[in-house]
Amino acid sequence: MYEIEATLTSNKNISLNTFSLTFKSIKIAREAMPGNFVQIKLNDNTSFTLRRPFSIAHIKDDEVEIIYRIVGEGTKYLSKKTTGENLKIMGPLGKGFKINEAGFSLVIGGGIGMAPLKYLSLYLTRKNIDFLILYGVKTGKEIFCRSEFEKLGKEIRYYTEDCSFGEKGNVTKDMAKIIQSFKPKAIYACGPGMMLKEIISVSKQYKIFTQVSKEERMGCGIGACLCCVCNTNIGYKKVCQEGPVFSAELFY
Ligand code: FES
Repeated sequence: MYEIEATLTSNKNISLNTFSLTFKSIKIAREAMPGNFVQIKLNDNTSFTLRRPFSIAHIKDDEVEIIYRIVGEGTKYLSKKTTGENLKIMGPLGKGFKINEAGFSLVIGGGIGMAPLKYLSLYLTRKNIDFLILYGVKTGKEIFCRSEFEKLGKEIRYYTEDCSFGEKGNVTKDMAKIIQSFKPKAIYACGPGMMLKEIISVSKQYKIFTQVSKEERMGCGIGACLCCVCNTNIGYKKVCQEGPVFSAELFY
């Protein structure tokens, strides 16, 4: 884990209220694995005391990308930052996805939860692991990095709650049918709590190796403040340090 001051190389709007921010850091780029995150200090005055966590969406050479959605004053403030400005960044943090190389995989993301799955999808492609992506959002305008995902040459099924793009409904709605026909050896997922709950229950039913990345409020990001703990069937775990990616079995 490094604490660096990085210069932004871009910060652009890529879909509805969603931004891609990139910065250069050889150290973070070299060590980051899919599922890791960074903590960003928004400014040095007291208006945003806590650092904010953002999952790593992509690494290209020494450039790191995060993708974030504007959800409050902090992310709104971040969206106004421009190329050339500096940010204090800590990372890579947390435990990333463990990969099952045994065969076909399902990659399932809901909303901004697709961000870490962008890096994961690229990683699986490099490892020659075949997979199917299930990409769920509330409305088609929220879909981001569509061309980058499609360039990987894998099948992608889109689900929107308002039926504006792809299938109407929840990203998990066809999961059981898809598992029966594709027989995946692994599932990797990130998204809202209800979506993960559904995935964990299907994973338990079909006994599939499943890794879920949890989205949780964080304070310190390094295991010191306990504000991110979640309950598992072997006790409480710190999402920032023992996650954010967990084996679904911990929630069976
Ligand atoms: Fe402080 Fe996890 S955010 S312990």
